[in-house]
Amino acid sequence: MVQRESRYSSYCLPETKVRLLGEFFRAQRSHKWLLCRVSPSASCINSSGERAPTLKRDRVSVFNDKFTGPQGAHRRATRRDRIRCRARSDAHDEPSGRGNNKIFLISDVHTDHEENLDWIRGLSSVDFSQHTLILAGDVTDNLEIFESTMTLLKRKFRDIFFVPGNHDLWCRRKEDNVTDSLTKLEKLTETCSSLGVLTSPANIGGVWIVPLLSWYHESFDRERDIEGYNIPPVHKACTDFSACKWPTPLSTSDDSIARYIDELNDENLRGLPAREQADCQVISFSHFLPRFELCPEKRMLLYPNLPKMVGSDWLEARVRQIHGEMGSATSCHLFGHTHFAWDTTLDGIRYIQAPLAYPRERARKQISAENELPLCIYDSERGGLLPGPFPARWSEYYRLHKREPDNQQLAPWVEPHYHHQSDTPAGGGS
Ligand SMILES: [Fe+2]
Ligand SMILES: [Fe+2]
Repeated sequence: MVQRESRYSSYCLPETKVRLLGEFFRAQRSHKWLLCRVSPSASCINSSGERAPTLKRDRVSVFNDKFTGPQGAHRRATRRDRIRCRARSDAHDEPSGRGNNKIFLISDVHTDHEENLDWIRGLSSVDFSQHTLILAGDVTDNLEIFESTMTLLKRKFRDIFFVPGNHDLWCRRKEDNVTDSLTKLEKLTETCSSLGVLTSPANIGGVWIVPLLSWYHESFDRERDIEGYNIPPVHKACTDFSACKWPTPLSTSDDSIARYIDELNDENLRGLPAREQADCQVISFSHFLPRFELCPEKRMLLYPNLPKMVGSDWLEARVRQIHGEMGSATSCHLFGHTHFAWDTTLDGIRYIQAPLAYPRERARKQISAENELPLCIYDSERGGLLPGPFPARWSEYYRLHKREPDNQQLAPWVEPHYHHQSDTPAGGGS
């Protein structure tokens, strides 16, 4: 059995992209709402302002061929089918008319920290009961705590949308009985389905909410590295590299995981029902970042190599497919992962992050106030998508300052954590 290459498995030249998108939408016929958001003159310029790389077809073929053996084909088909079927059974199309429709955002609740679970327990059981929560990943790596967190939230909110983050796909706990991170993804999808938590696109009171699966890849980072300091590489600094297990041929040493996870979106997006109006509100969300501009520069970060493990070019392409190359007044994408509150508009698409984060991080007040969470981003009685920007320290900083990726001077709160190599005695440590 030969696996067909996904239309979205790589960036394409503009004319090719337009042709493939045309095929896709003709096949879907009723998906006018997406068609209207894709610019026919789309250029494949990525968030660096450069032409997005075209993946070599032989690399893609090699990747897919590795799944074409009996085991590979079975693994690929069954995993995708399980994720897709459960997601489709969750999807529902609800016309507007549910009264006041509010949509709230939160990410990175990390409820394996008891203090965070208590924070969720403390949310009103009345205030949100007719409204929707978008939970943009990183709940816990513990399946038992995951289920109890979702059960708790389901008692507070009418609808919940979820995509997994990196912590959710860790599989280092024997009692969870999962062999690898894709199996973990299936288990999370099963749990969500059984609890009525949505993991695929659905229309909530006239607003389309579109969850996008994603994973990061190091090549997403195109800004200059900090030089001259002993900064550990990502595979030594990031727990994901030991706690996640990826089946062959997926590898942390290339972008195969980011591509594979992105392709899982194809089936979910094909399940979108028809939409009558061409310009309704669409809110997409992911755990990871579609644009590197949504993360502070390396010199500002306690771990300066963080941008190598935060985002995906395939996610950016997916966001642009949904919202159009230049976005619109209602284009909005939500994300999580970095634990930096954010609200900014880039190329016509508004990007918002509202993390609960770790208890110790909350003390830093990265978002204006803890009691603003979950963040209300949409209120039908106040005109829909609420005007921004919401208070968020880093996006406010970048409204006032340009990025300086060539600036090698570490911020004062970063420098004490690293030794400059010129300060290292001869024969000293690595
Ligand atoms: Fe997180
Ligand atoms: Fe994360």
